[in-house]
Amino acid sequence: MNRELAKSFNTEKDIYQEAEERLVFWEQQAASLDWFKKWDTVLEWNPPYAKWFNGGKINASYNCLDRHLKGTRKDKVALIFEGEPGDSITYTYSELHNEVCKFANVLKDLGVKKGEVVTIYMPMIPEAIIAMLACARIGAPHSVVFGGFSSMALADRIRDAGSKILITADGAHRRGKIIPLKNNADLAVQDTGLVEKTVVVKRTGTEVAMIEGRDYWYHDLMKKVPTDCPAEEMDAEDILFILYTSGTTGKPKGVVHTTGGYLTGVSTTHKYIFDLQEEDIYWCTADIGWITGHSYLVYGPLANGATVLVYEGTPDYPEKDRYWEIVEKYKVTIFYTAPTAIRMFMKWGTTYLEQRDLSSLRLLGTVGEPINPEAWQWYFKHVGKERCPIVDTWWQTETGMIMVTPLPGISELKPGSCTLPFPGTKVEILNRAGDPVQEGEVGYVAITEPWPAMLRNVYGDDKRYKDTYWSQWDGKYYYAGDSAKKDKDGHFWIIGRVDDVINVSGHRIGTAEIESALVEHPAVAEAACIGKTHQLKGQAITAFVTLREGILKSEELIIELKNHIAAKIGAIAKPDELYLTDELPKTRSGKIIRRLLKDIAEGRAIGDTTTLADSSALEALQGLAKN
Ligand code: WTA
Repeated sequence: MNRELAKSFNTEKDIYQEAEERLVFWEQQAASLDWFKKWDTVLEWNPPYAKWFNGGKINASYNCLDRHLKGTRKDKVALIFEGEPGDSITYTYSELHNEVCKFANVLKDLGVKKGEVVTIYMPMIPEAIIAMLACARIGAPHSVVFGGFSSMALADRIRDAGSKILITADGAHRRGKIIPLKNNADLAVQDTGLVEKTVVVKRTGTEVAMIEGRDYWYHDLMKKVPTDCPAEEMDAEDILFILYTSGTTGKPKGVVHTTGGYLTGVSTTHKYIFDLQEEDIYWCTADIGWITGHSYLVYGPLANGATVLVYEGTPDYPEKDRYWEIVEKYKVTIFYTAPTAIRMFMKWGTTYLEQRDLSSLRLLGTVGEPINPEAWQWYFKHVGKERCPIVDTWWQTETGMIMVTPLPGISELKPGSCTLPFPGTKVEILNRAGDPVQEGEVGYVAITEPWPAMLRNVYGDDKRYKDTYWSQWDGKYYYAGDSAKKDKDGHFWIIGRVDDVINVSGHRIGTAEIESALVEHPAVAEAACIGKTHQLKGQAITAFVTLREGILKSEELIIELKNHIAAKIGAIAKPDELYLTDELPKTRSGKIIRRLLKDIAEGRAIGDTTTLADSSALEALQGLAKN
């Protein structure tokens, strides 16, 4: 029996039943947080707009820090940081509280006001978490931009958010090299002309240019401020953060999350799904630049008073046993990672695990993409030593919290299936008409009732919110963009994205984003991208490009175009394969038929070509992809 759940529910069977009274269930969960003022209503639902715990006053930073200072958690370790070069530091809840209060005062001194978006572009270091919690403390929504994104991708996000403050670092350690974060940030700042102040954390000691009156060292500012900063009383529905994610157009969407419902959703799911115990050492390997980093590295676990491990680097540096070395060193008990990492470990072989003591582990999790049963079994056997349950958790940036998952100690575990919707949520698989599909039939993942951590909007783009998520079934149900099926037990099997989003190693990248980056290159006339099945990454990007008149095809140009995408978006968007072609397969009305490109890239039989305007395009492409 899951110990945390056992405390809240009478019997195992009761859990799902009891949560059938959804609003009662969520109200009970919300009550375990600290509120300055209780809410007036649990849910106000005017589809597609939800207000959870409206009228309530709460602060996320207060719930992650201050409330733990009243009891024995005051001196409990909140963060354990392991740097890539091997340095480490820990913060107790009380120490973390001090740092967050100080940085909140720094932000105030720099003129940051409640409601103003602060952009954070940082490596995986404690200061990144301190910055997030400091923003939350003063009611300034944060927009964390993944440190692996390019200066141009950063500039787009700064512009969209209208951000005047940027927090960054001199550099980031990456496999023994240094990524010049501050340089990238400078380019973005120049490009947007919006940012008035930047705060720079000294992490690598790299020489950087500091502009007087604009750029400030974090350590200098932190010396000058008091450690006292009361948490702002925020409305439950005030924005906690914006997080940009890829969609089907070239422009990333700023997914908006608010405070009370989000915190209720992430703390509840974190506590029950990971069966959190006071003594656990919890490690989530996600970067804070992604939603998993927000919900299950920062807000969920800290609201629950957990000890959270933060690691700066990659799993293969300096050796391929780095993760297992860390598990051994800190006696990690809960480990949450992505299937792509597991498949990589499989490839590397078991020797790296065998030389380390992994006996502290008791629970494993995965997120970000479907886990193939073979990788699940390997994870179970070699990492969990057949002792540790695995929670395969399905959710999205937009859902904010885990939605479909097993509950350890309660659910039957089934390799490859994320099993059942979390108690108190309603997730279904529907056909186009909005009816539930039969057992074994493929349909679309829908969320049929509002849930507390749901997105509230797309930042500054209400129409896009409605069109993307709520137009599929006349504004009634949330459309997730994934296809899935159910087995005879009603358990969910997620197949993957059905829109033009490629899931590379668990990271969402819109084909339109890559294509628009490509067509900005002077040599390119037209481009189309698809996701090709990849053994390790789940999907890899394949691009097909036609060139402008007079431009000659060459290997050098292929390399140049790949690098161009990396510079425009970031290394994660660099295609594995890029083909230069004279023509792309199109319909008579001129629409590129991507599914045929997919067939070609996968080397399988070509599907229906009746809508194709000119079949010669296909033959040439098939020849290319074979070589
Ligand atoms: C995919 C990550 C299968 C899915 C939290 C979803 C999954 C997208 C799983 C969201 C899982 C996430 N099994 N597929 N357990 N978890 N996905 O926004 O396609 O980065 O729509 O959020 O990842 O990616 P995002």
